Amino acid sequence: MKIERCVCTQRPFAGLLEQARADGLSLRQLAETTGASACCTMCGPYLRRCYRTGQTVFTQLLDQDDEPPTSPRDTTPHRS
Ligand code: FES
Repeated sequence: MKIERCVCTQRPFAGLLEQARADGLSLRQLAETTGASACCTMCGPYLRRCYRTGQTVFTQLLDQDDEPPTSPRDTTPHRS
């Protein structure tokens, strides 16, 4: 099983990361702008990890506790 998008917004993590990079969005701004992780919140740990590490496809289930919550330090998306 591959997890690669926010189901609620139908936005792939890869596209969300690209938008954050292009628009210079913090993690909080990315969520506010796109709605990803703001509806059911299930994709929150994936989006946070994506933003911080650049990983856009996941093969393991993540719980909310598997990735630290959004913080004011999340101002710059990972660049490969
Ligand atoms: S799956 Fe992303 S907010 Fe629901």
